[in-house]
Amino acid sequence: MEPLALYIHWPFCAAKCPYCDFNSHVRERIEQARFRAALRRELAFEAARTGRRPLVSIFFGGGTPSLMEPETAAALIEDARAAFDAAPDIEITLEANPTSVETGRLAAFREAGVNRLSLGVQSLEEAALRFLGRRHDAAQAVAALEAARALFPRLSFDLIYARPGQAEGSWRAELRRALALAADHLSLYQLTIEPGTRFATLHARGEFALPEGEEAARLYLATTEEAARFGLRPYEVSNYARPGAESRHNLQYWRYGDYLGIGPGAHQRVTRGADGALLAARRHRAPEEWAARVGRDGHAIAEETPLAPIERAREALLMGLRLAEGVDPARVEARSGGLPFAEAVDSSMLAALIEEGYLAWTDDRRLVATPEGRLRLDALLPALLR
Ligand SMILES: C[S@@+](CC[C@H](N)C(=O)[O-])C[C@H]1O[C@@H](n2cnc3c(N)ncnc32)[C@H](O)[C@@H]1O
Ligand code: SF4
Repeated sequence: MEPLALYIHWPFCAAKCPYCDFNSHVRERIEQARFRAALRRELAFEAARTGRRPLVSIFFGGGTPSLMEPETAAALIEDARAAFDAAPDIEITLEANPTSVETGRLAAFREAGVNRLSLGVQSLEEAALRFLGRRHDAAQAVAALEAARALFPRLSFDLIYARPGQAEGSWRAELRRALALAADHLSLYQLTIEPGTRFATLHARGEFALPEGEEAARLYLATTEEAARFGLRPYEVSNYARPGAESRHNLQYWRYGDYLGIGPGAHQRVTRGADGALLAARRHRAPEEWAARVGRDGHAIAEETPLAPIERAREALLMGLRLAEGVDPARVEARSGGLPFAEAVDSSMLAALIEEGYLAWTDDRRLVATPEGRLRLDALLPALLR
């Protein structure tokens, strides 16, 4: 039986950040009880049709799940533990913003059963925090990190780099300060311009430019070098950890394991039935419509389709080649319902990419992207996949 991960989406934020295209919404008042009841109901619906399975992780993402009442997290964790066979070392992560209000609630989330916190620090520079439209300053971020470290066994935080005008030297200095504060896991994202965001408008108007090409590549290599000095390695394109501290939840996605996703706009991939069909589902995105549908039908699935073997292989490769460990062709075959690996990729393109040094076979026959390849993954993959 494939083990499961469980993602729970909390769709509300105190304000919308200008770079962010996540399914997040600002509301004057959040109907906490209504959303708690709907999340529990949708989880019960999925649990009933999925049956008892090993559960390796729960991840509260958003949006800003630290704006959820801690008792909502407690109830959902309890429901999940009752419905599935929780692994003894189950990882339970909550994303939190480092404003003082939220920091004050962290103890209650720990009490609720959360054992890993992921803090959205974004930067330790005041000017950058203002540019990113954040509602906290650097001192609040450090205070949140310290509070979190005292409470949670595991801690990670996010930074956004490759910001306009960011010089390599100043990024190295900022990152070193962050690494000194970090425990054993960091998510380090290059700023990207997402369509439909405020930054997309400003960027299109030429109000700022981002480091690109060689410059962005240099920043990425500098990031990896600085992280290595602290013993953190990039186990995925943007995620750095000490060995053993990798996010189990995210590994489940990248290794193309099964996951349930409940809440507005959540996606899921679950193998079901005797024939091992892999069903992909996505849910309604608008929070109120999602809640109304859950109230009516017990779930708010907008679309659910079995994935064809070739789509399964594509997804497994898209995810797996982001990982430093790469992909095992036998695993890709198993997860795609038996499609031979040679039929999932363009073999002459595969040979060419290996020849050019972007992909490689390891001694134990795993396909990996080289450091050069990882910088260009978005361009390489469409060519490689059939
Ligand atoms: C769902 S958000 C984080 C949760 C939390 N609400 C917060 O803002 O701290 C996940 C992370 O994605 C990153 N992110 C979001 N949009 C991005 C973008 N356009 N470019 C780079 N990183 C981005 C940020 O680092 C953010 O913390
Ligand atoms: S970055 Fe976080 S706080 Fe900002 S809008 Fe996105 S989800 Fe909300």
